[in-house]
Amino acid sequence: MTKSYLSERVASLKPSGIRRFFEIAATMEEVISLGIGEPDFDSPPAIIAAGIRSLQEQKTHYTSNRGILPLREALSQKINDLYGVNYNPETEIVITVGGSEALVVACTAILDPGDEVILPTPCFVSYQGVISLAGGVSVEVPSKMENGFVPDPKELEKAITKKTKAILLNFPCNPTGAVADKETLIEIGKIAEKYDLVVISDEIYDRLVYGEKHVCFAGLPNMRERTILVGGFSKDYAMTGWRIGFACAPEKIMRGVARVHQYIIMTAPTMAQYGALEGLLYCEEDVNKMVAEYDRRRKYIVEGLNYIGLPTFEPCGAFYAFPKVDNTGLNDEEFSERLLQEKHVAVVPGSAFGPGGEGFVRCSYATAFDQIEEALDRIDQFVKSLYSK
Ligand SMILES: Cc1ncc(COP(=O)(O)O)c(C=O)c1O
Repeated sequence: MTKSYLSERVASLKPSGIRRFFEIAATMEEVISLGIGEPDFDSPPAIIAAGIRSLQEQKTHYTSNRGILPLREALSQKINDLYGVNYNPETEIVITVGGSEALVVACTAILDPGDEVILPTPCFVSYQGVISLAGGVSVEVPSKMENGFVPDPKELEKAITKKTKAILLNFPCNPTGAVADKETLIEIGKIAEKYDLVVISDEIYDRLVYGEKHVCFAGLPNMRERTILVGGFSKDYAMTGWRIGFACAPEKIMRGVARVHQYIIMTAPTMAQYGALEGLLYCEEDVNKMVAEYDRRRKYIVEGLNYIGLPTFEPCGAFYAFPKVDNTGLNDEEFSERLLQEKHVAVVPGSAFGPGGEGFVRCSYATAFDQIEEALDRIDQFVKSLYSK
């Protein structure tokens, strides 16, 4: 028997359900992709200029482990201005390689082997992998379309055991676009308090909300002391390729988070830190313009999908619509695969995002308006073709 060189932890990781579709799509011509969770906008010019300037000024060295202080100060100020939550830039903020790294360092810092993390699903595809690589166990709690894909606090409480260490929340949510109401979040907070749990709150889409005010979980009563706030610049500042994000937490937790970051990453890319600083200080208008355009597309795509006969709840955040497709007689995998093969439109099957995602597909509207128009035409033809057979 051949020996496996991989650890059991890694060998047991499931491949991402998203990748397979991108690989098929990459072999096809004239594919419209509603599959990818990435802004179609380029980074604002001022951010690009700041990145270039930093290189020309020879800012090509490591920075402080936790990131350049002016960036931490600007971030602290921004979070305070937006949400009234105060983080000490010296001791309670670390700049990371994207929100992705912030999730890894957060989980690694708080989980012992076998610790359970309550995970509302459908959710971002990386969560289960990150939790398990940190030695933890995901306890998935599906949420439902009837509840606007906001988890029922009672269901979350039922999932708690002696091993539960944390709850991982993500609002606005990838893949559903759901935004949790403040009352529900307060209820979840009370549960976290009752069982003395850490809450990792991934708020990477915080600025992408439509007609709603984002609720920062750490700003809820007594929550700052037990919350690790995860955020980033990829989505709202259209900076995916710069790889820059952050984690904020009270000092007693940040001490561990920053130590993990120091050992595995040392520092986030220097150039990206200067770009992000520029974004925070001078690019508010760019963010607002992108949000307005996402909102225009959001209304169009949600109306279009409902019109086609794919029931779609109104997402109030992020840049995803999550239509129900199983009333066509196809499950979400079959629907996505055939739509791609027959009409060259890429969407992601909801089951890739865990329990509760089955029967839905994720359509990203971080795609140009005319492409969304064309995609909806093709989806309409596809759905009609299913009924005419
Ligand atoms: C919910 C959520 N969290 C975190 C990330 C990671 O983003 P990044 O590492 O680019 O900051 C993503 C990216 O798609 C996401 O959707």
